[in-house]
Amino acid sequence: MNFKTEVVDLISSQVDLPKEKIDALIERPKNAKMGDYAFPCFALSKILRKNPAEIASEIAEKISSDDFASIKAVGPYVNFSINHQKLIASTLDEILDKKEHYGDQKLGEGNVPIDMSSPNIAKPMSMGHLRSTVIGNSIAKTMKKVGYTPIKINYLGDYGTQFGKLIAAYKHWGNEEDVKKDPIMNLFHYYVRFHQEAEENPELETEGREWFKKLEEGDPEAVKLWKWFREVSLEDFKRIYKELGVTFDSYNGEAFFNDKMQPVIDELKEKGLLHESRGAQVVDMGEDENPAIIVKSDGTSIYLTRDLAAAEWRMKEYNFVKMLYVVGNEQAQHFVELKTVLKKMGYDWADEIHHIPFGLITQGGKKLSTRKGNVVFLDQVLKDAVSLAEKQIEEKNPNLADKEQVAHDVGVGAVVFHDLKNDRLDNFDFDLQEVVRFEGDTGPYVQYTNARAQSVLRKAAAKGEKPSLDNIELSDDWSFDVAKALADFPRIIARASDKFEPSIIAKYALDLAKKFNKYYANVKILTEDDQISARLALVEATSIVLTEALRLLGVNAPKEM
Ligand code: ARG
Repeated sequence: MNFKTEVVDLISSQVDLPKEKIDALIERPKNAKMGDYAFPCFALSKILRKNPAEIASEIAEKISSDDFASIKAVGPYVNFSINHQKLIASTLDEILDKKEHYGDQKLGEGNVPIDMSSPNIAKPMSMGHLRSTVIGNSIAKTMKKVGYTPIKINYLGDYGTQFGKLIAAYKHWGNEEDVKKDPIMNLFHYYVRFHQEAEENPELETEGREWFKKLEEGDPEAVKLWKWFREVSLEDFKRIYKELGVTFDSYNGEAFFNDKMQPVIDELKEKGLLHESRGAQVVDMGEDENPAIIVKSDGTSIYLTRDLAAAEWRMKEYNFVKMLYVVGNEQAQHFVELKTVLKKMGYDWADEIHHIPFGLITQGGKKLSTRKGNVVFLDQVLKDAVSLAEKQIEEKNPNLADKEQVAHDVGVGAVVFHDLKNDRLDNFDFDLQEVVRFEGDTGPYVQYTNARAQSVLRKAAAKGEKPSLDNIELSDDWSFDVAKALADFPRIIARASDKFEPSIIAKYALDLAKKFNKYYANVKILTEDDQISARLALVEATSIVLTEALRLLGVNAPKEM
């Protein structure tokens, strides 16, 4: 039941204003004791030429509904106080009926490609790529819940001059066996070594350029090595994706667009947008802005050109209604250029392109840099988190069935939740101890709360007690607080999807978990009186919503831990 709609209907029965107008006028009193909704009568006062307080009391007198404990005039307002029992009963009823579909809604439809993760081949996946992966994954699930069809695209960094360098490095110091054993690690070492040695020996840079040229020209050895590097690196990445439970609908990376850039350059020329500036081909961005470079002075095309080709291709392929790029904030200017150039080309759909930026992860206050070998290895982070979870389980619940799976869910859940709980634009410092902390505002805390709810339900079932809504009367404040939070869930999802902001869901899950734990601490749920099944209904509804909130974040919710 939607109490606000009910308020709108009641007011509308007395007042000659469009419903949307009424809806927009309704306020939420700051002090909940004053009521849950308030309708101000100032606007009517002009039309009816009466004073607002008079109008308020006239309206209040004429309407009544047992969904509200009271409807009364307070000065110029008509105040509505929700009937708590109605709110609790109708919310629980809806959740137990819809289960994990509670909160599903139709806010839109159509394809939404989400460009996410997109690590660079032959380099370890960075914390930034992890952020993009988990934020993108959560946005995809949330968009789906509100009616869209997300298409998760991993735009792999699988092409560019760095592959010339990598091939040169491999020819010097590499061997097949090592690469097979630990592809990313070893390819990465070659790459770092290349940069170190190139400082003393500029000859190496030349070799790198030559290998890249060969790759461009389709030289069989260069192509074979490049393909092999791509393949083994991707396998390594997929291991991490599997740990995280993230899948993709497409791996069309940068290389896929190699033959699709020239047509874009031609198109820009035809549309008269391209001109020369200091040897490069550029598109003007308007006064006071640097022009966007399309073809560099040495003739090579760049990141932007490829993204233009990719955007056009995706529009043809998916006919999208929106397209999202989940990429670090440091690339903001790039996406401004991408949108601007597409607009200049006459593509209005560029307005539906959104860069979804996120903040930087630093370590000890410093930026992480792959080039300098200053990286956090994600494999290791996930492994450490899981083994910490294992240790905790061993201490607290050594007889737990399915220990390994639960440790995995809790360890990985901790990492993912840690990443999602802050506003995505916030920067944060990476500290493993902090990430795998299981107390306080963490994923494991939410998971643990859910497992606690499940354990109550199991104990009840063993006594033959089941959740039910017949004869429900939960009159304590803790129940009401939980139910009110549960009733908020659909609005929370709408907001998270509108703002592309998973932290809204994460913060909500923490809040609901806290309210439930207060309830648990203060109410004896399993006391066998006539409200036991009603209390169990509240417990079950909470577990359904916590589980669904975690799912939308890409975190599993073990039933026992
Ligand atoms: N591979 C790039 C990087 O690591 C990210 C690609 C983002 N997606 C895009 N369409 N530009 O910085």
